[in-house]
Amino acid sequence: MRRPFIAGNWKMYKTPAEAKTLISQLLPLLKKADIDVAVCPPFTSLETVLKLTADTVLRVGAQDVFWEEEGAYTGEISPVMLFDMGCTYCIVGHSERRQYFGETDTSVNKKVKALLKQKLIPIVCVGETLAQREEGITKEVCRLQIEQGLAGLKPEEAARLVIAYEPVWAIGTGKTASAGDAQEVIGYIREVLAARFGKESAGQIRILYGGSVKPDNIQELMAEPDIDGALVGGASLKAKDFAEIVNYKNS
Ligand code: 13P
Repeated sequence: MRRPFIAGNWKMYKTPAEAKTLISQLLPLLKKADIDVAVCPPFTSLETVLKLTADTVLRVGAQDVFWEEEGAYTGEISPVMLFDMGCTYCIVGHSERRQYFGETDTSVNKKVKALLKQKLIPIVCVGETLAQREEGITKEVCRLQIEQGLAGLKPEEAARLVIAYEPVWAIGTGKTASAGDAQEVIGYIREVLAARFGKESAGQIRILYGGSVKPDNIQELMAEPDIDGALVGGASLKAKDFAEIVNYKNS
């Protein structure tokens, strides 16, 4: 059985002071349930959030990482540093990094391997643009991102991953893929993972949906057999909305 997982990607929002307010509002709203929950603040708010969430159900992730352990790489943060701080997860290959910062499947692959080496859990993002969807190549695009981004991993390493299927056209637009459409692509991604790593490992990998997830669409998404959770952007910046999403089983 895969344990559901809801993660908030704060993107480039929330100073440490704002993060403190958000976390203090959020924690009392989270109900006990059989589910993993995490937030991914910007680097500068990680320490504040880690302190406030120690001994709580909330885990913490970063939004990006460099693949070397240390060195002359001005501006970069290593997996060793994230692990040392107390992070559990790290987002890799988000479409915004692919679009604006030159992230490629090759760099995703190096980052995934470096994170796994530090016992951090990568949340690997894949997804098609609107033009690619209209061209009818959604599955092909996701397959290539998975195969190249996860090249060279052993099945037992792959089993620890989290994948997030985030159609680029659904991010921050208010347009959500229908639960059926999301299930179709996510089910296909699981087949690709099974072909590459075997059915057993593929059955353990959690695959999230991301793209305009809100309190009013989480239930139908979670009802799909292959959707194991959500990577939430905008709605994770509001304590009430994020808590409602996390508490989907109780509402
Ligand atoms: P929104 O929930 O704001 O559409 O963002 C999704 C996302 O990019 C999460 O990583």
